[in-house]
Amino acid sequence: MLSKTIQDALNDQVRIEAESSQAYLAMASWAEIQPGINNITSFFYRHSDEERMHMLKIIHFINDRGGFAAVPALKQPQLTFPSIKHAFKALLAHEIFVSESINKLVDLALQEKDYATHNFLQWYVAEQIEEEALARTLNDKLELIGDDKGGLYLFDRDVLTVTVTNGAAE
Ligand code: FEO
Repeated sequence: MLSKTIQDALNDQVRIEAESSQAYLAMASWAEIQPGINNITSFFYRHSDEERMHMLKIIHFINDRGGFAAVPALKQPQLTFPSIKHAFKALLAHEIFVSESINKLVDLALQEKDYATHNFLQWYVAEQIEEEALARTLNDKLELIGDDKGGLYLFDRDVLTVTVTNGAAE
């Protein structure tokens, strides 16, 4: 059985994952109307789906443990970006924020001696390491490219092969 403190904290993480999904959905929609970056567009749509899976996983966990997952209201994400580089910078910043939030949850689970939740959260700890690393790699590549259009063409081709999941649909 979840304590109210843990339930509230997990519900807050539900909101954060849902807002992540919305943020990347907005990036995808913006990218979709930019010329020639179809794979970047697909990357953002895929990433948005991943975040929805992260959210669902927490919802199921809360409900399975005798709590109630309250579906939250969401704030509107940033809709447009000055450049592709800006969008990927925002993605990295957002992932760092999510990692901090997961770390706080892990701390809280230990304080509350909720070892089941602590164990559940380890999946998210591992996922955040991967997501941050991927976001950093993509940002590094974009830095190298600079304003070179040919480089952006290759980046769009490469991004087709990267994935942000380590089994989010489990
Ligand atoms: Fe679910 Fe990318 O944080």
